[in-house]
Amino acid sequence: MERTGHKDLLTKLAKEYSRYAPKSAALNKRATQVQVDGGSHAMRLLEPFPPRIVVAEGAWLRDEDGHDILDFWQGHHANVLGHNPKVVTSALAAAFETRFGLLTGFADRLQVEVAEILCQQTGAERVRFTTSGSLATMYAVLLAKAFTQRRLVMKVGGGWHGAQPWGLKGVSFCATRGTGFQGVESEGLPQAIPDEVLVTRFNDTTMLRDDFRQHGDQVACFIVEPFIGAGGFMAASREYLQTARQLTLHYGALLVFDEVVSGFRFRAGDAGALYGIRPDLAAFGKTIGGGMPVAAVAGRAEVMELVGRKGGSRVKFSGGSYSCHPASLLAAKAQMEYLVAHETEVYRQLTTLGELTRQTMESAFAKEGIHTLSSGYGNDVLPGSSINMLLFPYREDFQLLTPEDAHDPALTDIELREKVLPLALLLENVHVVHGSGSVTTAHTEADIAFLGEACQRVAKRLKNVR
Ligand SMILES: Cc1ncc(COP(=O)(O)O)c(C=O)c1O
Repeated sequence: MERTGHKDLLTKLAKEYSRYAPKSAALNKRATQVQVDGGSHAMRLLEPFPPRIVVAEGAWLRDEDGHDILDFWQGHHANVLGHNPKVVTSALAAAFETRFGLLTGFADRLQVEVAEILCQQTGAERVRFTTSGSLATMYAVLLAKAFTQRRLVMKVGGGWHGAQPWGLKGVSFCATRGTGFQGVESEGLPQAIPDEVLVTRFNDTTMLRDDFRQHGDQVACFIVEPFIGAGGFMAASREYLQTARQLTLHYGALLVFDEVVSGFRFRAGDAGALYGIRPDLAAFGKTIGGGMPVAAVAGRAEVMELVGRKGGSRVKFSGGSYSCHPASLLAAKAQMEYLVAHETEVYRQLTTLGELTRQTMESAFAKEGIHTLSSGYGNDVLPGSSINMLLFPYREDFQLLTPEDAHDPALTDIELREKVLPLALLLENVHVVHGSGSVTTAHTEADIAFLGEACQRVAKRLKNVR
């Protein structure tokens, strides 16, 4: 691709889109009067305005304007079974009819059962539930700091662990600094917190060794995703995670796997198991909730007990009003039981469809002479993922190895991926975020062919404006 901006094309697409979705446009006008930017989650607020969705089933959505839209966002990557899967919705419908659904604020049998499934499928000894991945990673960091009595938290550049204090550094690419990801993401944090966060490079074993050599005896934990999500949907190498396990053990730090994206995505359990690595703590979210807000910290009893009576309640991870909400845990139970019972076919299907999606998108653009590269391919440990991101490299020899590669605007056309592609594809009734998204067991080969044809029309359009 050439390094030209896409201002004119974006203006043209925005005009077309306003004609295509007048009801969503009108709702956006109302929304901006009462909500900041017209919504509550920046990523969902496509410019000039997002489609307002009225129903979602399987792979498809319908918007206010009556379009049927093929969706690859899939509940912010939570829906491995597609939108509103019967196995989950029927359990919820029954619960709301039998006086159980809103029975909040108590202990019950359900949470025992869900905790048992999570421990059994991940090898964790104890679990505590919460309501978001951000809270789960925050509690994991608090636990690590309390257990080790150390102050430093090591994370990788481009790693998103949610909007929690120790996650708000080194997420957005910033070319002028160190690894490319050293910035602080939010104002309002006490200065001590970003100072406690060390940012290292994903999949760079040499840098990890150097960082531990320099700071290892002060590191409370290294938090890392076995398959990095927002950083660009890439698998950690076997060597990288094995080194992380050895170094954390050697220096007395805890290894925390953030499995909010990778958990129950490659198998009915943690991705760490595929590497043969047991972290001290792991954070789960998204997929485990079956579309409902469920997250968890799971791990070694000795560490987890710090939140409870035996451990002197040293870490204030006391749940929250809606922790273990029965409706949420019912969805989690239905989803996880289904994934366990159908593990072979679900994960085979997700791998096959993920591969087909990557190849279909790449070849649709290649047919029009536009070089692309998809992320999400597997390595010698993880199979190809059900999530991907399509990148538009400036050079044919571009290689995707780290989040720096995926997010450095000198290497790939980020405006095209993040702004042009979603808008142009929406005009073709396809919804993507960050250059693509997730396939689910509800997607069919015909759906992926539909995506391919849409991509080819977008590619033609791009070729014509060059
Ligand atoms: C790897 C990872 N960890 C944590 C989070 C935060 O989870 P939540 O959005 O549920 O707070 C996310 C969210 O996308 C994530 O991708």
